[in-house]
Amino acid sequence: MNISIATVFNELYEPFLRTSLVKRAQERDLVSIETLNLFDCVKPKERIDAPTFGPGAGMLIKPVVVERAVETLEKQHGPAFKIFFSPQGKKLTQSLLKQIAHKATQKGHLMLLPARYAGMDARVEKEEADEIKAVGDLVLMGGDIPAMMLLEGMLRLIPGVVGKEESVREDSFSGPFVDYPEFTEPVIWHGMTVPEVIRSGNHKAIDEWRYNEAAKKSVLHHFYWLKSSAMTTDQKKKAARYIPPHYVVLMHGDVLVGPEKRVGTTSIMSIDIHDIARSSCTYGVKQFFLSTPLKDQQAIANHFLSFWQKKAGAEYNKQRHDAIKEVRIASSLDEVIAAITKKEGKEPVLLATSARQTGDEKALTYYDQERVWEHQKPVLILLGTGHGLSPAVIERCDYVLGPIQGFTDFNHLSVRSAAAAILDRWLGINER
Ligand SMILES: C[S@@+](CC[C@H](N)C(=O)[O-])C[C@H]1O[C@@H](n2cnc3c(N)ncnc32)[C@H](O)[C@@H]1O
Repeated sequence: MNISIATVFNELYEPFLRTSLVKRAQERDLVSIETLNLFDCVKPKERIDAPTFGPGAGMLIKPVVVERAVETLEKQHGPAFKIFFSPQGKKLTQSLLKQIAHKATQKGHLMLLPARYAGMDARVEKEEADEIKAVGDLVLMGGDIPAMMLLEGMLRLIPGVVGKEESVREDSFSGPFVDYPEFTEPVIWHGMTVPEVIRSGNHKAIDEWRYNEAAKKSVLHHFYWLKSSAMTTDQKKKAARYIPPHYVVLMHGDVLVGPEKRVGTTSIMSIDIHDIARSSCTYGVKQFFLSTPLKDQQAIANHFLSFWQKKAGAEYNKQRHDAIKEVRIASSLDEVIAAITKKEGKEPVLLATSARQTGDEKALTYYDQERVWEHQKPVLILLGTGHGLSPAVIERCDYVLGPIQGFTDFNHLSVRSAAAAILDRWLGINER
């Protein structure tokens, strides 16, 4: 495969192309890489760049210069698969690198066109770029480091460049799990010992240990990667083992009620029980509690549950029985916390939910699982009825999850709809 790079600073590539595996790939004739300086594509006294139209300072590489670079390089190596670089491009990922390696190999010529200054004229990107790539939500001075990143990432996917091909196949971000932890000599360093199992020589045990560690690391530190990945049933089960136990309580006491939003109680609704129980089951919540201090409300709820949790309910509708069998009635939040503590041996971390934004350090987004799970405790998600949880309950919680909202001013989701969205965002799989 021919790789050509049209750049303003080709001197940057000299040491890069002469080093390590990038050098070896060329020595083994797996690829040939050359750079073309864009200054060689301008006539004497012609400028490579020009100011942008409209207010706002900035210089762009002129489209005609890029056009000439493309013509020159395609004349030498044939039609190219052309990649431009921009922070607004599609972010490089391991799977995109694989696609690029495949397309470039098929075409036989990969051309990289990193920009400088304020970037490229929009028309030349439209006309010439097969793809525009970014390397993160950040802005660099130029596209040369992104081009080198793409090269390093892509070259190691070309057979023969990296010694052990299976190690490439199992790399982080090639599947749902990131790589397992690795260790080398000495066995004890700073008081930390390399786990016995991986020194045991027992390959089956080592594989199992690695698989478990990779799953654990992915859940605890790369949950967003994991939940957006395609998983086998086994991988899903393995990951689920490392998600801390979650519980949900629907608060009917200690909530704001009435037009004056005083602290009071609300009535239990069977539709909430059905729907939140089904959501809880879907997302792996261990138990769903209903909390009300009112004895008559508890009696109504118990009557309802006694049908669904017993044989008659199971015979009438097995799925509803399965969902509702883990619903429990409690008279207060304290009772719920005590029940979870008894079961898990640890008090749960309390996550309030609210339709209003909280600005303090307790505020949590749906990207903050790591912050909560690092406590290594069970998690209790509190849902409010009426106008929401009372300030005293929110005060008691360790964190407050932000509101579920759309691009509108309407902010009146039913608690069962909000519960489904909350659980989906916090625990749900959303394959990319
Ligand atoms: C200063 S940047 C231009 C930024 C542009 N004004 C914007 O905000 O999108 C100049 C060039 O550096 C490269 N570059 C900068 N950040 C990048 C990133 N995150 N990914 C890929 N290329 C990047 C691109 O080639 C870009 O055209």
